[in-house]
Amino acid sequence: MEMLEIRNMHKSFGPTIALNDVSFSAQSGEVLGLIGENGSGKSTATSIYAGMQTCSSGEMFFKGEPWHPVSMNDALKRGVGMIVQENGTVPGISAAENIFLGETQEYVSGLFVNRKKMNRDAQAALDAIGAGHIRAEMMTGMLDFQDRKLLEIARVMAKDPEVLVVDETTTALSQKGRDIIYGIMNTMRKEGKTVIFISHDLDEIMEKCDRLTVLRDGKIIRTFEHEEFEEGAIKAAMIGRELQGSYYRDDYDGEVSSEVVLAAEHLNHTDQLSDFSFELHAGEILGIGGLSHCGMHTLGKVLFGNEKAESGSFTVHGRQIRNEAEAMKEGIGYVAKDRDTESLCLEASIKDNIAIAGLDKIAVHNAFILPSRENSYVDAQIKNLRIKCNDRNQYVSTLSGGNKQKAAFGKWTGRDSSILILDCPTRGVDIGVKQAMYQLMYRMKQEGKSIILISEEMTELIGMSDRLLVMKDGKLQKELFRSRQLSEADVIEYMI
Ligand SMILES: Nc1ncnc2c1ncn2[C@@H]1O[C@H](COP(=O)(O)OP(=O)(O)OP(=O)(O)O)[C@@H](O)[C@H]1O
Ligand SMILES: [Mg+2]
Repeated sequence: MEMLEIRNMHKSFGPTIALNDVSFSAQSGEVLGLIGENGSGKSTATSIYAGMQTCSSGEMFFKGEPWHPVSMNDALKRGVGMIVQENGTVPGISAAENIFLGETQEYVSGLFVNRKKMNRDAQAALDAIGAGHIRAEMMTGMLDFQDRKLLEIARVMAKDPEVLVVDETTTALSQKGRDIIYGIMNTMRKEGKTVIFISHDLDEIMEKCDRLTVLRDGKIIRTFEHEEFEEGAIKAAMIGRELQGSYYRDDYDGEVSSEVVLAAEHLNHTDQLSDFSFELHAGEILGIGGLSHCGMHTLGKVLFGNEKAESGSFTVHGRQIRNEAEAMKEGIGYVAKDRDTESLCLEASIKDNIAIAGLDKIAVHNAFILPSRENSYVDAQIKNLRIKCNDRNQYVSTLSGGNKQKAAFGKWTGRDSSILILDCPTRGVDIGVKQAMYQLMYRMKQEGKSIILISEEMTELIGMSDRLLVMKDGKLQKELFRSRQLSEADVIEYMI
């Protein structure tokens, strides 16, 4: 049975044509993959179907009937749910209130909200997807990025949808979270339901999907049947050309200078850092890996002076760093994992976001900002990273997910930082841009700059690092050196 269909859909945002005559369908019992470069229209098409926004023209069908959801909640009630690419939870309320957002009135009798029952139902929803470690009464703002995503999944799954859209969610999750999603997808397929799965990870999408539809510049390029899945052909359909050059760096005998640029000594912080010491060298790409709660994300924040360690210290070029301002002065740049709340100001333009970190580079005699200099500085970053936008004045909130990530990256690479702390820097970016980011990182290394690459992608860590620190429970578990023989299994062994 045809579960969903989109016919001749168009969508424009001012001068941007996000969708240009898009038609596709998905069957019951099918996982349909959607793939395409950043800004190609994947989130727009699916979010229209899930009731988040309306299209300029076109038709939609759900189980053969015309489909006109008026809101996301309306769509969800009627069987279509979506896990959005961006943050889909509200911070100032409890996990339970997020799960029942928009329907808390069902728990009101007279003047009272029956919190006990609401918490009980919410906990059942969390337990049902295997996220019982999140307590229903917790404030959402206390949860980290991964747990907020799991909360969103619990919220959608509690409604038992017949169509589920998973928009670029897995890259935000560690293996445990991914396994939860994969489990849900399998069950839905077996029950004759439908999943639309959006991802930039080609291996993942080829493994998990039954068919694959490729979008480019708002147009459907081609749908691949399962037996037609072939990496080269899919990539070519996505980017309209062959990818040249290698993906990760391909050297294995590169020298790293003995000069220490950053030294951390005995860092302790909550349960996230436990007597953690290490050194970073000039011209080194230092990978940091582990499970999502191993402390590596906190380490990034501490090294940028964003969070203060309870004890221990670290120095950069021999000088102690106590806060963000000092970190920036010593040439540290930081791309946070949670870009929307920590790296970017969404309700400001690309120009303001990128220029702010580079003001000292743009200013003349440290004082005057020449608009023309500022503009050309920003335009250079837009061009280098191929940020898809109308112009530098476009608000970051209106960029596609991957293009937001590029803006967060551009903030610091443009500034010529001598030490870059990158926490999951390639999350949500398409393969073409990913390759460009890796090349940029390698170029920086060759210029003698240093990079701390915190990542949950094993292949990226192994592919790019000179040295790899594996963390577990806030401690340094193992130090591994770059080698052709290093495999994912070698690293995972020390993570768990
Ligand atoms: N609210 C908006 N205002 C202006 N432009 C928008 C808005 N929402 C989306 N766009 C534009 O529409 C185009 C398609 O965006 P969309 O988010 O659908 O891409 P995507 O395929 O999901 O990309 P990604 O892989 O980066 O998530 C982009 O050029 C984007 O900037
Ligand atoms: Mg998107």
